[in-house]
Amino acid sequence: MVCLGNICRSPIAEGILKSKLPEKTFEVDSAGTEGFHIGRSPDPRSIEIAAQNGINISKQTARKFIREDFKRFDRVYVMDRSNLKNIKQIAITEEEVNKVALLLENKEVPDPYYGNDNEFKKMFDLIDNACERISKKLLNSKS
Ligand code: 4NP
Repeated sequence: MVCLGNICRSPIAEGILKSKLPEKTFEVDSAGTEGFHIGRSPDPRSIEIAAQNGINISKQTARKFIREDFKRFDRVYVMDRSNLKNIKQIAITEEEVNKVALLLENKEVPDPYYGNDNEFKKMFDLIDNACERISKKLLNSKS
């Protein structure tokens, strides 16, 4: 799960998808395309909206996406088109490029950083719906 800073959107996406998949079978992680907040905890507003929905993301720490992530992960979900462009620039092989997709298929998860609590709530719901669809698909393909 990738966004710009790895403190607002992608930590929530990591927490939600992890909560919907068996830990032993699926590795879920998140990263940012930029390193502004490396080592920091998620934004308090993201921690709060996740907690209200029973998901603890407070122990996560921000990191930057690296090329090796293409080896470690089968899929790379990005939140917006700017993330898509930045991550595709890091990809070298066609296989790597093909691993990258917008989390919401044809839509973006808007950056809530300068928004209010309502923006964080809307973001949570968008990501939750997408993770529900993805987890169902993944669980079906394993059975
Ligand atoms: P995120 O949100 O990409 O969802 O983590 C942002 C976090 C920080 C900044 C921008 C967006 N920033 O400009 O520092």
